[in-house]
Amino acid sequence: MTLSSPCKINLVLNLLGRRPDGFHQLETVMQPVGARDFLSFERGGSGIKLTCSDPSLRADSDNLVFRAAALFLEAAGIADGIRIHLEKRLPISAGLGGGSGNAGVTLRALNDIFGRPLAQEKLSLLAAKLGSDVPFFLQDGPALGTGRGEIITPLDPFACLKGLSVILVHPGFGISTPWAYKQMDNFPDAQNGAPGRAQALIDTLRSGDLTAAAARLYNALEAPVLRKYPLLSVFQDFFRENGAIGTMMSGSGSATFALMPSSGAAETLVERFKAQFGNTYWVAVAPLAD
Ligand code: C5P
Repeated sequence: MTLSSPCKINLVLNLLGRRPDGFHQLETVMQPVGARDFLSFERGGSGIKLTCSDPSLRADSDNLVFRAAALFLEAAGIADGIRIHLEKRLPISAGLGGGSGNAGVTLRALNDIFGRPLAQEKLSLLAAKLGSDVPFFLQDGPALGTGRGEIITPLDPFACLKGLSVILVHPGFGISTPWAYKQMDNFPDAQNGAPGRAQALIDTLRSGDLTAAAARLYNALEAPVLRKYPLLSVFQDFFRENGAIGTMMSGSGSATFALMPSSGAAETLVERFKAQFGNTYWVAVAPLAD
C-alpha cells in the first residue's frame, strides 16, 4: 500500500504566551498543500523495518515514522512486523510539517492495515505525543489549531482559495523549531499576541475577500527568524513585488510560501525567481489541497 503524505502551510500562527510546561499557547490556521512525500507499507517480517530514500534522514528509531509505528503497535497490542519505505520529496526542518505528515499518515495507514483497532480519539492522543503538528494530519482539510497546536478543529474548505497555487521555497538551510520558539522570549509582543487573529482570517476568507485575507496572513515566529535570516525577507519582497496574492514564512521556517492566482502564474513566477536567485534553492509549485 502506497500513500501520499502532504504538507501544510500556516496562514496564521499567533502565539498567545508561553505556558508553564514550556510550550507556547497558540492559535493557527493550517491549510493542506499538495506537495508530497510518499510512504509504502507492507505487512511481514518481524518488528519495524524502515527505509528512506534520503540518506541524510536517519531511518532508525529516532525517525518520526518509526516512532509513530512503534507507538501504534504498542497501543494496539500488535506484535506483527511491518515494512515501511519513505520516499522523501519535501525539505526537512522547513516548517511545512513534512515529518509530522509522515507520522500522521503512518498512524492512519497502520490503523487501516490492522483492521482499525484504535478509535479516532486514541489516534489523536498518539499523534499529539509525537508532535504538536501531527494531529492536523489525521484529517484532510484546513483546520484551526489551538492549545499547543494539537487541538484540531476541522474547517470547511475555503471557497476563495479553490484553484489557487502556492509556490514553496526552501533556502537550503533548516530551522530548528525549539530554537525558533526559544527566541520568542526576546520578542514579547509577538510571544504574547492578542487572541482573535485566527478567527479574523477565517471570517475574512469566508467573506471571499482574498486581498483582505492576504493582509491578515501572520506568523509570530517570523520575528526572530527573519532577523537572523534576512534572505527570507528578500524572497518575500520578490514575491510581493511580482504578483503574489500574499507571502509568509510557514511554521518555524525556513520555507516561505507565496499564494498565486493559478498554477500558470506560479510557474511563470518560479522562472523569474530562478532568473533572479539562481537554481540552487528548492522550489515547488503545488495546489492548495481542499
Ligand atoms: O511539538 P513539537 O515537537 O513540534 O515541538 C517542538 C518544540 O517547539 C517544543 O519542544 C517546544 O520547545 C516548541 N514549541 C512551543 N510551543 C508550541 C509548539 C512547539 O514552544 N506550541
